[in-house]
Amino acid sequence: MENETLYERIGGDEALRQLTNTFYDLVFNHELISRLFKTDKDLIKEKQRLFLTQFLGGPQLYSEVYGHPMMRARHMPHTITEDDAIAWLQCMSEAVGQLPISRELKDELFDRFPRTAFFMVNS
Ligand code: HEM
Repeated sequence: MENETLYERIGGDEALRQLTNTFYDLVFNHELISRLFKTDKDLIKEKQRLFLTQFLGGPQLYSEVYGHPMMRARHMPHTITEDDAIAWLQCMSEAVGQLPISRELKDELFDRFPRTAFFMVNS
């Protein structure tokens, strides 16, 4: 339905649980970017699920728990290069590809990430 948010159209919470699980399994095994992730894998999966819920038009779950997202500022303690952003996006592309949704919807979902990812580059 046209009025539904992207969050609803991809399958809501269940889809984001699958996406964040697949995504961080790829990230934590990635030869270039795994070095950046030092905290608990379950915690970062949970934070990303809450963030993506609101990023895709669902309830403001991340802000309720952690306050204003300020994503660029929250990434500043980490040295993130353009190559890191490309690797992050490759992991996301692969994770999106595994969702049980149409090709069109996968493309629409993935298109939400490149701008934000390159915005996080700080080195
Ligand atoms: C450009 C590539 C990116 C890299 C290399 C990167 C890396 C990181 C790292 C190292 C952390 C901290 C993880 C930890 O606590 O161990 C983090 C946190 C986080 N990232 Fe990214 N990130 C990238 C892009 C993005 C994008 C595009 C988004 C959102 C669409 C995002 C959302 C988040 C969220 C929600 C957190 C948790 C923040 C918190 O502590 O509350 N990141 N990221």
